[in-house]
Order: sequence, then structure tokens, then C-alpha cells
Amino acid sequence: MVHQRADSRIEWWKCCSIYQIYPRSFQDSDGDGVGDLNGLLSRVDYLAWLGVGAVWLSPVCRSPMRDFGYDISDYTDVDPLFGTLADFDRLVEALHERNIKVILDVVPNHTSDQHSWFVKSRSSRDDPKRNWYVWADPGPHGGPPNNWLSRFGGSAWEWDARTEQYYYHAFLREQPDLNWHNPEVRSAFADVLRFWLRRDVDGFRVDASAVLAEDPLLRDEPPNPDFDSETPPPEKFNRVFTDARPETMSYIEEMRAVVEEFSDRALLGEVQGGIGRIGQFYDGERPRFHLPLNFLLLDTDWHAATLAAGIDQYINAIPDGAWPVWILGSHDKPRIASQLGLAQARIAAMLLFMLPGTPIFYAGDEIGMPNAMISSEDARDPFEALVPGYGLNRDPERAPMRWDSSEKAGFTTGEPWLPLGDHVEERNVASQQGDRRSLLSLYRQLIALRQTEPALVAGRFQPLRSERGVLLFERCSDDKRLLIALNTRDSSRTCPLQSAGALRLNTHLDRKDERVESQLHLRSNEGVVIEVLTSSA
Ligand code: GLC
Repeated sequence: MVHQRADSRIEWWKCCSIYQIYPRSFQDSDGDGVGDLNGLLSRVDYLAWLGVGAVWLSPVCRSPMRDFGYDISDYTDVDPLFGTLADFDRLVEALHERNIKVILDVVPNHTSDQHSWFVKSRSSRDDPKRNWYVWADPGPHGGPPNNWLSRFGGSAWEWDARTEQYYYHAFLREQPDLNWHNPEVRSAFADVLRFWLRRDVDGFRVDASAVLAEDPLLRDEPPNPDFDSETPPPEKFNRVFTDARPETMSYIEEMRAVVEEFSDRALLGEVQGGIGRIGQFYDGERPRFHLPLNFLLLDTDWHAATLAAGIDQYINAIPDGAWPVWILGSHDKPRIASQLGLAQARIAAMLLFMLPGTPIFYAGDEIGMPNAMISSEDARDPFEALVPGYGLNRDPERAPMRWDSSEKAGFTTGEPWLPLGDHVEERNVASQQGDRRSLLSLYRQLIALRQTEPALVAGRFQPLRSERGVLLFERCSDDKRLLIALNTRDSSRTCPLQSAGALRLNTHLDRKDERVESQLHLRSNEGVVIEVLTSSA
């Protein structure tokens, strides 16, 4: 089924639903237990069937895989584990043939310590690449230059015995930070972007983009007043001098200018700092990201009142006219189906696609994939080894995709790099494709509804009073009003309605074309989309 664009005058990154793929875990084609590009190629028809308009691929560049591809040793080549540049080109072509855009994850903040730039940089203080990374002398009392902490634990400074200076790493010590204050670095990275833009990628997701620049004075970070025994040690200080610096904003503007050398491309940004800071990453007079990623739905308590408040805060925090974006899953956050349970995962899906803005979900969310249970000893994620005991392991959400209920779930013929996890029997693509009421069917119908109803893409968002656990809002175009009612509770609810309506879709997928009069009855965990019939919009 080819879905019609809701409105072809609106940019693609506003119209489409975006699907994040972690290539290691999507589909293996050569039996080594790790997903690859040819595996992904064999699944493009599934993506078209599902109706997604764009895929965002986590990094596939050459990498020693200390951080599973977020530590890049060559920005302009594909890692042999995933395939070749020719495989990449074939994949882009196959996706484009199906009207699916391709968004590539790029990692500008840091390289791998194996990258030739860093190898040169650390070779001598006089090397022309020395200043491509952040080097500093020991602090006044010896030891690291200041109190900056790595997000992955311990000091963010690593001593280099040969050249007798420290280098800075916001993440692993094997991920040295590039020195974005250096124009040569910015120009080299602009060429990296151009390399992929010429290979026809439609956009980038810019990794860790808020932390590109550090304070040149290397001032100490202030203590985090909320720090207590339950806070992971890397959060001991507030990141004032290393996060969202003014210079970072201008470096993002430069990246945007590079992307705009090509037509119809988009920049997504991983930005930290919560809702308070999100506005500054937007497309304004000095354009930054088209879509600064918003994790509110994953980070919020799941109550109608809290959700209504969070949505309101977010909508008010972004500049007038800015385009919202919502994320329901990622390779860095626990799975929504495990956080909320399957019944509320349906509510979350309906919310995602009915809210104003671009919806992004993570491969496997559409079949309700749970977190895989992985013990600390078996963890592959370095975060768990470096900051143990805080539940930070990201392996559970990185478990392989399940395509069917066979022994290896159709993911590989070999031994999967991470365990598959529980409930493979029912939570797999094949069984849910054959079930008209499955979560997968719901995702497909929600995506299709958003694609065919202009009110859901460019329509106004009208919040309503949310009471007794039912989140209520409307999406309105000039000639249509859609009422969305989501019961976040495990018991039934009745809501008074001001006008009669026709039920378009419900999360259980068992009601259709029903007329709803003055009272709306919602079963426990039920969400509905209703077309308001009588009063004008
Ligand atoms: C981003 C990625 C995460 C990675 C980190 C360091 O936050 O999403 O997976 O570990 O950057 O590159």
C-alpha cells in the first residue's frame, strides 16, 4: 500500500514518520550474529509496508566498536562488519525507490582513538593535527586540568605519557573529543557531511551535538545540588562549561549551512538539557536543527495530568512556528513496552502519531519488544562496566529484532550478538502481521491515518482538560476536527462530549465507524480517535 502524502507542499521531515534502526540489531545476512546493510536491504519491503517515510540509521562507519559505532575511525567508509560503501549505495537506492528517506547518524563531537586524525594528534605536540583535539597541561596541583567528568564515568581527562598532556573525552577514553574551536576541524567535518550528502542521504542525526564546544578557560563545573547517593557519579557536577555553549550554537549553524548547499535535506540533533534548553536549538533567524530531538515521552511519568503538563511545557518552550518532534524509543533508553506494559504501549503509540510534530520510533517498538534481561556480567555496553549499579546498561534495548518465532527469530543463522529476550513467540513481525488487532497493525494504521489526514500533520493542536486519567486533545484543520481521547488507567472511563462524532480508530482495533453521542465510553487502557461531526471546526 502506498500512502498518499498528507500535503505535498509540506517538507518531508514534517510529513513522515521516522523509524530508527540500530543496524547491529536489525537483520543479519552473513550469519555472524550482527546485523548488516545487506540484511537491512532484505527488509526494505517491510519498511514500505509499515508506511514509514524515513529511516534513521545509527552509525555504520568504520569503528573499533568500543561504543558500537559511535566511536568512528573513518568517517567516509563503511565498517566491514556492516558491509561496503557499495552496499550502502544499494540500500539508499532501494529505500528511495520506496519513497523512504535516509537519515544517517553522524558523530562530530568525538572520533575513535584509532582515527588517523587522533593518531597524528597524539604523536607529538608539534604535529599539525595536535590542535584538532582538546589537549591541556595538568592542573595547578598536578593531576587532571579541572573537575570535568566523563559521561561514562571518571575524569574526562586522559593522561598521554608520551607527550605529557591530558586529552579531553566527554564519553569513553577511546572517544577523544574533537576541538570544534579549530576551524580546520569544522571544515574537515563539513567535508564529511558533503561526502554523505553526495551519496544521496537525505539528512543527518547529529550525535551529542550539544557538547561540541568546551569552555576555552577550562573552568571547573559547579556542584549539582540534586546529587545524592542514587545519582550516577558522572552527574556530580552541572555541565555549565561543557554543554550547550554559545559557540556550539554557531557550529551547529555552520553544519546547517552545509546541509543547505543541497536541496531538501534535514538535520536532526541529539540535544541534552531537557525542555528548558530545547528552544535554542531550533530553526530561527539563525537556523540550527530542523528537528532537535525531544525525549519527553520517554522521560515523563505516565499519568494523563503529567503528560498534559509536559506536552504543554514543551510546546511553549519551542519558538513560535517551530516544528515539534517526539520520540518513543531509542538505542539509549529502556523500551516503552517494558516501561508501560503492552496495554499502555498502545496508548503511547496513538499519542505519538496524533501529537503535532514529527513522530520517531525505534525498530521493535511496533511489535512491543521488551527490554532483554542481560546480567551485569554479560553486559556488552561499556557504560554498565564503567558506572555499574545504576541500571545504565543499554544492551536491553539493543537486543535483536524478531522477524518470526523461529529459534533465532529470523534475525540470524548464527549466534545473536545479544540475547533475543522474552516473548519472541507473540512479539515478532510475522505473527503480528497475521493478526488484524496486533500492536503492529495499530502502528501501521496510525501511520496511515497521519499520512492521509492533513489535520494530523499541519492541523492545529487544541489541548482539552484532561481528567480522571484521560488525556484529551483535538487536532483541527479548516474542515475537520479530530478528537483524541487516551485512557491512561486500568479501569473504564466515561467522558462527556460536546458534539457527536464518528469513531475512526481505537487502540484495541475492534471498533469502527461507530457513532458516539454525548458520552464517550472508554474501556481500560483504551484510546480513540473520533471525527467530530456536528459543530464546525
Ligand atoms: C550518543 C549516542 C550514544 C553514544 C554517545 C557517545 O548519546 O546516542 O549511544 O554512546 O552519543 O557517542
